[in-house]
Amino acid sequence: VTAGGPPGADQPAPARARPGQPDGLEMSEAVFKLFQGAIHRSAGIYLAEHKRALLVRRLRGRLRTLGLDSYLDYYRLVTRRDDSSELVTMLDLVTTNETRFFRESLQLDLLERELLPALQRAAGERRRPRRVRAWCAACSSGEEPFTLAALLACHLPAEWRREVLATDLSTRMLERARRASWPVRQLAQIPARYRSEFAVRPACGDGQETIEASARLRAMIRFERHNLHLDAPAPGPFDLVLCRNVLMYFDLVAKRQVVARLLSVLADDGYLLVGHADSLSGLDPRLRLVAPTVYARSERPAGASEPAPAEPLAAPPGWEP
Ligand SMILES: C[S@@+](CC[C@H](N)C(=O)[O-])C[C@H]1O[C@@H](n2cnc3c(N)ncnc32)[C@H](O)[C@@H]1O
Repeated sequence: VTAGGPPGADQPAPARARPGQPDGLEMSEAVFKLFQGAIHRSAGIYLAEHKRALLVRRLRGRLRTLGLDSYLDYYRLVTRRDDSSELVTMLDLVTTNETRFFRESLQLDLLERELLPALQRAAGERRRPRRVRAWCAACSSGEEPFTLAALLACHLPAEWRREVLATDLSTRMLERARRASWPVRQLAQIPARYRSEFAVRPACGDGQETIEASARLRAMIRFERHNLHLDAPAPGPFDLVLCRNVLMYFDLVAKRQVVARLLSVLADDGYLLVGHADSLSGLDPRLRLVAPTVYARSERPAGASEPAPAEPLAAPPGWEP
């Protein structure tokens, strides 16, 4: 990430107290544009001008922790060429991580009623192995990959291999996802027939009651940090790629590149699942709509090229192409 930006950005905004900004820290328009550029370059996320107050709210505590008194100083720290650790922390702070178990239930019903049975039929006719590999490409705090693992556990025959790769940009979210433990109030999000895969744990110490995923679900999922905007796709092929409720934060160019990379690792008979707000209309000629928000890959049109791969994620042991 490089510095540089609009004229006037060199001068820190004067620290004047304003209503809603009790500590007097202000972010000038010029400094906002610097952050906007850095966030876009490093994560593909486009923050429109009206998101300036949101950005200030999300970063203010970090400035306080670091004892900095201007956003420009913080920008300089974030964009240091010799140390990207503060960039990682800032991206943790600026991403929106909202998620829940069994989100987009119509899509999950389709998975249960049609997509998984189609894979089973193909395996019955020896056209594919008895195995499902899935990639949750923006897994947040883990509710989505554990939902998927519960579906695969309950709707595929016992002898099938099930593998879920769960990735996210946010290290903070990945840490929570790996813990596989959530506040007990989230139990209500899990339909009764899947609850046997989640155990309620009594509160210990000052903590609260939690729900924890079963060992068999945990064993199915592997977590990695992965940046959809900059990193090469995880080594496929994947039968299912879930990239839900994240593409809407990207600008058109970034979104197109990400979708092309995801399609490049989708198995021939695989499915790409996006969120209802992630419009893919007209984005890539290889996208074939199977159901609302569910896509398969049609043949690449003549002359179209593959996106250039960057450094790949390391394939785990036993992960044969
Ligand atoms: C709104 S949450 C959606 C979580 C889940 N997919 C769902 O639908 O419930 C968006 C997630 O995308 C992640 N994200 C944002 N930009 C990303 C990027 N460039 N690469 C990978 N993940 C990203 C965020 O950290 C966040 O956890």
